[in-house]
Amino acid sequence: TVELNPVLLPLDWLLGTWESDEPGEGCFPTIKPFRYTETLSFSHVGQPVINFMFCAYHAESKRPLHRESGFIRMQPGTNRVAFIIAQNSGSLVEIEEGELTAQQLNLESHTVARMSFAKEPHVQKISRVFQLQPDGRLEQTVSMATDSQPLMQHLRIIYRRSS
Ligand code: HEM
Repeated sequence: TVELNPVLLPLDWLLGTWESDEPGEGCFPTIKPFRYTETLSFSHVGQPVINFMFCAYHAESKRPLHRESGFIRMQPGTNRVAFIIAQNSGSLVEIEEGELTAQQLNLESHTVARMSFAKEPHVQKISRVFQLQPDGRLEQTVSMATDSQPLMQHLRIIYRRSS
């Protein structure tokens, strides 16, 4: 195995594969609440970059739903973190930036772009928090703002490490 680039040491707790512990909860004022499962994988190849892939499934039918993949970088010598993300649904791309404090990562989109024929409502802003809990589980919450709704929670899910 390749050694982790020292720039990424503050994020070493994220590396590996995570499976939803129990189904996550999705909500938004304009949709029916739903439940989903999700697998996260964070890996590296020695570069100062973490590669990631998130795959979400319908909790009951198990059919594939949402996917995101991208890259994580840290500004050397600081606690600033950037996520570069491509999403399948809505065919969004985004850059989120934020700060790492202990084992909590608070991110906010500063750029969101989409294909010209993406369906509405368009996402205007995304914020999310990754939090490593004292029991070793990982929580992710995602909020979004759309054309019609202010920033509000869309997702909450807890994962346990699977490798
Ligand atoms: C609905 C964005 C992640 C499942 C939506 C809507 C938007 C959106 C804009 C439509 C809201 C409306 O009609 O007002 C996002 C963004 C995500 C994300 C930006 C990530 C940052 C996920 C994930 C799942 C998911 C991980 C897991 C399965 C759904 C479902 C609906 C929905 C089931 C409602 C059904 C539908 O209208 O298609 N999402 N989503 N989303 N999202 Fe997400």
